Amino acid sequence: MNSHNVLEIKDLNVAFGNKVVLENINLFLHNKEIMAIVGPNGGGKTTLLKTILGIYKPIKGEIKILGNKYKKLPKGLVGYLPQKDLINYNFPVLVKDVVFMGRKILKSFPYILNDQDREICFDALKRVNMEHLINTSFSNLSGGQKQRVLIARVLAMQPKILMFDEPATGLDVVGQEDFYELINKLREEDNITILMVTHDIGVISKYVDTVACLNKKIHFHGSPLDGKLSEVLDKVFGKNMQFIVHDSKCLTCMGHHTHE
Ligand SMILES: Nc1ncnc2c1ncn2[C@@H]1O[C@H](COP(=O)(O)OP(=O)(O)OP(=O)(O)O)[C@@H](O)[C@H]1O
Ligand SMILES: [Mg+2]
Repeated sequence: MNSHNVLEIKDLNVAFGNKVVLENINLFLHNKEIMAIVGPNGGGKTTLLKTILGIYKPIKGEIKILGNKYKKLPKGLVGYLPQKDLINYNFPVLVKDVVFMGRKILKSFPYILNDQDREICFDALKRVNMEHLINTSFSNLSGGQKQRVLIARVLAMQPKILMFDEPATGLDVVGQEDFYELINKLREEDNITILMVTHDIGVISKYVDTVACLNKKIHFHGSPLDGKLSEVLDKVFGKNMQFIVHDSKCLTCMGHHTHE
């Protein structure tokens, strides 16, 4: 670890009751790094993100963001897109209102946005190429468009770190490529550090700098091009590998089948 790390996790243990779900986790992300967390169902991936957010309290260890420990995560520092099915995620509001909500999180009551706040929101929509749909109803958008608007919503907080929990689920192959291109742009142009949980083992080597394989403990942390990774994945996923990667919702995997 060094002082340039944006996120540092040291000797972290998290338990629910007496069941230890995360054990001795050590991870660090430097500025503009894109890290993928992979691992089997129930391996603790979502728990790790929620612990970083301060939703779960560790029983041991510490987390630092920009070198600082925190009890409550400072507003706006980390943008988080939870694990869910995008298609079922509906707001009865316009696209711009969804993005305004992201900015309002930084305000206190009565949550009024000034011209500068609105400018930041419009800019966030531009970053994700959705400004032309600003007055469209959110519920009428495609899955990929909804995801872009939800990304704009967190960008409106001007976060330092973005965390995604299975962002590619529910997107078609083109949508997934677009998503990875977008996060690469955000990292390059907006200096954002990205941590994402994914099951797309096939695409990570193309788009991420580092991979952490998590199943209660970190079984691997390094480059996706490291030959040891596939060995570790085989061991951690075992026979379930096919099931995990080719999950019924995973359209990338369906795409991979057609190329095989
Ligand atoms: N709020 C909670 N209370 C009790 N147990 C929990 C809670 N959240 C998660 N767990 C347990 O912790 C373990 C890790 O769950 P988690 O959701 O972090 O896994 P995951 O790696 O995200 O899995 P998936 O790939 O299915 O999303 C599981 O055994 C789960 O049942
Ligand atoms: Mg999860």
